[in-house]
Amino acid sequence: MNIVFLAPAYPAEMPEFTCGLAEAGARVYGIGDSPARMLPPKVKEALYAYLHVPRILDEDDVLSRAHDWLRGEHIDGIETLWEPTVLLAAKMRERMGIPGMSHDTVLGFRDKQLMKERVAAAGLRVPYSARATSSHQVRQAAERIGYPLIIQPIDGAGSADTYRVEDVGELEQVLKRVGHVPVVSVEEFIDGEEFTHDTICVDGEPVYENVAQYLPRPLIARTDESCSPIICTVRDLSQPKIQAGITLGRGVLKALGMGTGFTHMEWYLKSDGEVVFGEIGCRAGGARLVDQMNFTSDQDLFTGWGRAVSGQRPNLMLQRRYNAAIIFKRAKGHGRIQRIEGLSEFENQHRDRLCAMELLPVGARRRDWTQTLISDGWIMVRHPNWDEALKTARSAADDVTLFAEGSHPA
Ligand SMILES: Nc1ncnc2c1ncn2[C@@H]1O[C@H](COP(=O)(O)OP(=O)(O)O)[C@@H](O)[C@H]1O
Ligand SMILES: [Mg+2]
Repeated sequence: MNIVFLAPAYPAEMPEFTCGLAEAGARVYGIGDSPARMLPPKVKEALYAYLHVPRILDEDDVLSRAHDWLRGEHIDGIETLWEPTVLLAAKMRERMGIPGMSHDTVLGFRDKQLMKERVAAAGLRVPYSARATSSHQVRQAAERIGYPLIIQPIDGAGSADTYRVEDVGELEQVLKRVGHVPVVSVEEFIDGEEFTHDTICVDGEPVYENVAQYLPRPLIARTDESCSPIICTVRDLSQPKIQAGITLGRGVLKALGMGTGFTHMEWYLKSDGEVVFGEIGCRAGGARLVDQMNFTSDQDLFTGWGRAVSGQRPNLMLQRRYNAAIIFKRAKGHGRIQRIEGLSEFENQHRDRLCAMELLPVGARRRDWTQTLISDGWIMVRHPNWDEALKTARSAADDVTLFAEGSHPA
């Protein structure tokens, strides 16, 4: 199988998928905007060929360069797992007559309003919402929908420019802040717990499914620097509340016409048990979620995905052995990391539960936690029992502290 893979080296997890594709036996044609000499060695090794383009997000330019580059080659599929390039991949498939999800189908995974309309049309519960392109339209929508409500970009990611609005007074303030966003979605605020539903699908049928819980909800994690956000995969998918989310997820995949590949959906569980659709992407979740899923079942979903998109049986492990939690750390203070407290005690105490860890080393400059969920690094732990997994995750959140410049001892 000859597979074109857009953005094979960026963002962070893409090298794993590039290797997974090669491991599955595909010939990988990479297209990206890193110069070939800058590619990580393992990506270089996994690629059969590489086209360096000046700007991967300049769709017309990439389409014409790729067209010239691939002339005379037989290509079986065009894949990408980076949200900003999923529509480009679809356009490229259509232009070159290669099977896979159409541009219109992928749009349903990209445009939040269209997404919700299609999901609602299938009779599934979505937050009441409206698209707005002016302050006037936002005010009108707010009046119809009522408070509290959510305002967010129609094609946002990572909770950027997303606001919970309590009343008319706050609406005016938020309007000033989202002035630069051309199209927003105004939505009913859904109170409840927040989960993912992740799949690898073959022709729309999930051959692998995962659920993870966000603790706290992403919007809070994104607003409160002092918290260490946790995401934990749920080992026991048979719980009725989780099954309700999975049923919703499967309905959404049908409603949107999913084809083959990864999906990452978010859903809400209200206190009365009702489940509500949040959003979905036709790509894998980021921020190490695929590693968490791998640690949940001791398997390699990077290669499993590679097999699925190159027309082979994915042979995935469906048995779930652990709840695997990732804890994102934010240092206190600014500038460079000066010391890390509590880490060796944590490691000694939880050695058998620790899966992996990538904290910024002393001397490294803090990352911008508002721009990356990964923040100043992460710790991943697992345990077969949910409460035990969370207890360890909470210990990583509370007992390990990174200090940067200008911070004071606890
Ligand atoms: N209608 C809603 N009700 C409650 N919370 C919401 C709603 N829409 C968004 N949020 C909150 O904002 C976060 C980000 O919104 P989301 O739609 O997932 O966009 P993205 O993750 O692409 O930025 C969600 O995880 C959730 O916490
Ligand atoms: Mg989201």
